[in-house]
Amino acid sequence: MTPEVSLSIDGGFLRPLVETDVHQGYVDGLNDPQVNRYLDGVKASVQTAQSVCDFVTADRRSPSSVLWGIWTHESARHVGTVRLHGVEHRHGTAHIGICLFEPRCWGRGLGAAAIGVVTRWAIDALGLRWIEAGAYEANVASQRAFLSAGYAWAFDIPGKYLLEGAPTTVKVYAARA
Ligand SMILES: CC(C)(COP(=O)(O)OP(=O)(O)OC[C@H]1O[C@@H](n2cnc3c(N)ncnc32)[C@H](O)[C@@H]1OP(=O)(O)O)[C@@H](O)C(=O)NCCC(=O)NCCS
Repeated sequence: MTPEVSLSIDGGFLRPLVETDVHQGYVDGLNDPQVNRYLDGVKASVQTAQSVCDFVTADRRSPSSVLWGIWTHESARHVGTVRLHGVEHRHGTAHIGICLFEPRCWGRGLGAAAIGVVTRWAIDALGLRWIEAGAYEANVASQRAFLSAGYAWAFDIPGKYLLEGAPTTVKVYAARA
């Protein structure tokens, strides 16, 4: 989906990404081990401008995904993404994921703000009632960002997923309408 909408946050905005938004900083950020440590799919293969463009295209064509770019007022290029995916209208549910691929932007409230506006949009514009995010137990920043955006812990998945080869717990947080 590529809805024609822009969402304001303190110090910036979000809008759905298009292929021409893809820039080298985005590709390099996804390949940065500091950034992709907890991003299972992203680090499964080396990202290239082509693979990232293909990802943007797939989300634009998908009726169940919206890939948002996050822009700050300081930068002409986007510094992160929020992906709403697995939208299931029958149950009114979806999944959400976030990546600020510019570490200089971490710890300023940007993550929580971006999660918050996309979640609000999903509830108001798509009529969803349950939006969930999974975070590796060790990813404290992610869990705190979701909590700060109004999410609540829903359930744990112990031992199913591997992090750096070892079984770990994925903690699932949910926002409810
Ligand atoms: C996870 C991520 C989105 C957090 O975004 P952020 O903008 O740095 O987070 P915020 O500044 O909004 O902080 C939200 C909360 O987390 C806390 N926090 C931020 N970084 C932290 C860290 N490294 N350790 C512990 N807490 C941290 C903040 O203090 C804040 O807590 P509070 O609301 O209780 O005061 C960002 O670090 C990121 O994109 N990381 C790489 C990709 C990733 O791991 N994505 C999530 C996959 S599930």
